[in-house]
Amino acid sequence: MDIVLKNANVVHLDEAVRKADIAIKGDRVVAVETNIDAEAGQIIECGGRLVSGSLIDAHVHLDAVLAAGLERDNQSGTLHEGIDIWTDFKPKRTVEAIKERARRAIDWEVAQGTGFIRTHADVCDAEQLSTQALIELRDELKDRVDIQIVAFPQVGIKSYPGGEAQMRASLDMGADVVGGIPHNEVTREAGVESVMFIFDEAEKRGLMIDVHCDEVDDSHARFVEVMVEQTFKRCMGAQVTASHCVAMHSYNNAYAYRLMGWIIRSGMNVTANPFDNIILQAREDTYPKRRGMTRVKELLAAGVNVGMGHDSIMDPWYPLGRGDMVEAASLTLHVCQMSGVEEIDNCFDMITWRNALNLGLENYGVAPGCQADLVVFDAASKADVLRINPACTHVLKRGKLVAETKPAESTVMGGAVNFTPGS
Ligand code: FE2
Repeated sequence: MDIVLKNANVVHLDEAVRKADIAIKGDRVVAVETNIDAEAGQIIECGGRLVSGSLIDAHVHLDAVLAAGLERDNQSGTLHEGIDIWTDFKPKRTVEAIKERARRAIDWEVAQGTGFIRTHADVCDAEQLSTQALIELRDELKDRVDIQIVAFPQVGIKSYPGGEAQMRASLDMGADVVGGIPHNEVTREAGVESVMFIFDEAEKRGLMIDVHCDEVDDSHARFVEVMVEQTFKRCMGAQVTASHCVAMHSYNNAYAYRLMGWIIRSGMNVTANPFDNIILQAREDTYPKRRGMTRVKELLAAGVNVGMGHDSIMDPWYPLGRGDMVEAASLTLHVCQMSGVEEIDNCFDMITWRNALNLGLENYGVAPGCQADLVVFDAASKADVLRINPACTHVLKRGKLVAETKPAESTVMGGAVNFTPGS
């Protein structure tokens, strides 16, 4: 064996956590059993720590990360001021500068356990700078992270001169996923037409779909239903993801539950983006003030696969963040009031195997035959990962150690502090 992780609390997909050793040969997990005594190039003693498949960020904009304040600060903090700043900043970027900022944010994510990233690339410029930069990074960093690139029309497809051509240009260059933003098109009709364009392109090219959908507080924004109809009719199921879906927060319950039924029947995924949704939505509300997130708890309870993204990391829309998917899950837990024991575990699942379904990953998890993309958390359970937000002591990509973190040590008046009761 190349690596054996000893005495782990193993979590594989939705199975219960169990104690075992994990043997890795090459880029694969080859055994998950108690007491593996095989010779190994490296032994990692886990001491009861939780080992799961890599964390997954299902939605981030790597072409905009670390750009906060470079053009000017977003003084109002609104989505619209962020878009204005981005529009002014965009032509001043270079491929190298985009790559430098993105590389730094990717390393932040990798150090905190993320092994798979789905990033959006703004296609609304003639040079396709974002797509070019992210395609180069996808290749250059493939030994530490797997990256999927979504061709994302920030301004729109149908309401923007050359929108369709720019989408096709990005996809021709090698973007992996077809994106969209139907609620940003000028009319309902243009929004529906944009959804048809997205599905036609995806079907023709055999690609997945991930659309920014109904990312507004307007309860009349109803493009999720259009996506559901097309997903259902074209039998595209889990190949399709609707991201954000925050208007669902504001729908009347009769419509929301009818829609959830159709989402389940279609097999479409939903991605929530807690940092941006909470900070950007409901800005025109006084009080009561809406929370701005889609109905994560209710969607999961109904059987929909809900994943999660970091969305922004220090960009014109959100000036904070450090690429921490556990923090995103914790935020979701609190805002969506998911404090039941199973619900806490669900929040961990959203940044692991649920996001794996979302991204269409095969061989994900901690079982024989899985690709050895693993994280060792300095905590014993999913719930403690959410409670403590521990260091990821070891991060493995395809069987190779790509990041290590030494846990912090605290003392009070000379005595060591341990954040786990009873230990
Ligand atoms: Fe986004």
